[in-house]
Amino acid sequence: MPGMLKEKILQVEKIAPVIFKMTIESAYIANTALPGQFANVRCSEGNNVLLRRPISICNVDRYKNTFDLIFQIRGTGTELLSRMQPGESVDLLGPLGNSFDLDEKYSKIAVIGGGIGIFPLLFLLNESRAGLKQCYLGFRSREFIVLEEEFKTASHEMRISTDDGSVGYNGLVTDMLAGDIGNNPPDMLYACGPTPMIKNVIKLAEIYGIPSQVSMEQRMGCGIGACLVCACKTKYGEEWEYSHVCKDGPVFNGGDLIFDE
Ligand SMILES: Cc1cc2nc3c(=O)[nH]c(=O)nc-3n(C[C@H](O)[C@H](O)[C@H](O)COP(=O)(O)OP(=O)(O)OC[C@H]3O[C@@H](n4cnc5c(N)ncnc54)[C@H](O)[C@@H]3O)c2cc1C
Ligand code: FES
Repeated sequence: MPGMLKEKILQVEKIAPVIFKMTIESAYIANTALPGQFANVRCSEGNNVLLRRPISICNVDRYKNTFDLIFQIRGTGTELLSRMQPGESVDLLGPLGNSFDLDEKYSKIAVIGGGIGIFPLLFLLNESRAGLKQCYLGFRSREFIVLEEEFKTASHEMRISTDDGSVGYNGLVTDMLAGDIGNNPPDMLYACGPTPMIKNVIKLAEIYGIPSQVSMEQRMGCGIGACLVCACKTKYGEEWEYSHVCKDGPVFNGGDLIFDE
């Protein structure tokens, strides 16, 4: 059940150019959120009325009753959010959406993240009880690499790629995955990132006969299934239908998604 919450900001930290980590005190989110879920956040108080912005829950600390949001400044909403200060309260609706399936039958898992898509995957890795957790992260270049230590700690094997080759594999994160996947195929692929990356992960999953779960990014309005802004196409028997990323997702089985070319 999502809560309409006003919670205290404990810390706002710039962790990379235009990327901020916000730690928020919330017993409700810390104790109810599942990996893959998000919060719909009001980015400013007062007259500057903006729609809420969806941000993934990146991690929770159930002992301290806190959770983290990590976001990149893209436009006005995230810019205003980055200016909020510790001690202020933030208005949010959450946790929203469905979550990744972490069934214990998936004992060897791989997570694939690109850019700001990596954030929900940290929560996933921390909650997963899989015996082998592989982690593939793709960034534009060295300066955009964030949470390297956190991902290393949360997984058993981690590889990084950069588009310009400044760190790790030189090229796409899915090309790096394609080179490894045949050696010891995982039982499940979990992915979050830009749509071309998601499509490549789904293709690889199909080639190797591995299930995949992917978190979709879509512009959102209400975040609760009421405004129909966030539609995406999914299979429905032999036909297709519109699903809502905010309510039916953001996590979908890769094989269920239909992408317009
Ligand atoms: C379920 C979900 C989880 C998300 N989690 C995170 C996260 O953890 N960290 C993070 O940095 N961002 C995340 N996003 C993306 C984030 O919501 C957008 O960057 C944000 O809404 C942009 O708002 P703005 O007002 O700053 O920019 P706007 O002025 O609204 O837009 C600026 C630019 O960003 C693009 N954009 C806006 N919204 C989205 C969107 N939802 N998806 C893709 N492109 C968009 C626009 O096309 C435009 O080019 C998530 C999105 C979804 C749907
Ligand atoms: S954002 Fe309104 S229906 Fe999904």
